[in-house]
Formats: sequence, structure tokens, C-alpha cells
Amino acid sequence: LATTEVSVAAIAEGQMITTMWQGKPVFILHRNAEQIERAKTDDKATDLVDPQADADRVKKDEWLIVLAICTHLGCVPQPIGTGDFGGFLCPCHGSHYDTSGRIRKGPAPRNLEVPYYEFKDDETVIIG
Ligand code: FES
Repeated sequence: LATTEVSVAAIAEGQMITTMWQGKPVFILHRNAEQIERAKTDDKATDLVDPQADADRVKKDEWLIVLAICTHLGCVPQPIGTGDFGGFLCPCHGSHYDTSGRIRKGPAPRNLEVPYYEFKDDETVIIG
């Protein structure tokens, strides 16, 4: 199947799930106010390796949807809250991604990729 439909109703604020789309792991994070604030504040950070505004990476502030594939050599990063910027740590060689999935520290050259997706309704997302 080219698309994957996922119910996000049960994901509490601040929590995430890992789903699969076309054989690839995808993180779906229900961002809480602090995680959103951090992502927006960090739009102005001067250390962005792959500069991108948070607003260009999400369709709704509450939801971050990214491929869980480190852009260094393809490991799966650890869940939200494991990295130095409140985001995701890739344990393979120490890449830290922020609450927008942007690379902030370590060898990865690019932000976590945002797949194409649409919200079917408030509780359902279709990836792909
Ligand atoms: Fe993630 Fe190397 S594969 S830091």
C-alpha cells in the first residue's frame, strides 16, 4: 500500500508512537505546549545545520510527523526527550535532533525527513 492510515486519538500530549510506512519507521509525536514553544523558539537558533522553520515542517503545531531514519547512516533515533534539545538522540554516532526533528548536534547532515501526509480528520492521519 502506498499510504498508511493511522489513528492518533490515543497519543497523549508529549507522547509519541512509531508506525511503519512503506517499510520505514515513522515517528508521530503529539507535541505539548513546551515542545511546540521550544521548536518555535529554536527557529531563531544560530546553530541550525539545515535551517528550516518549524512551521514549514508541521501541518499542525501539535503534531510532528517525521521519518525515524537518522540522516547520517540510517539508524533509528531514540524517542522524544532523549536528545540534548528535548528531541531525539540517534545512539549510533550521537546526532541530536530537536522537537521539530531538526539536526542540532552530531554528524547527521540534514533534518529528519517529513513524509507527505494529510489529516483525514482530527484523529486520523494518512501518510503517503
Ligand atoms: Fe545516526 Fe550516525 S546513524 S548518528
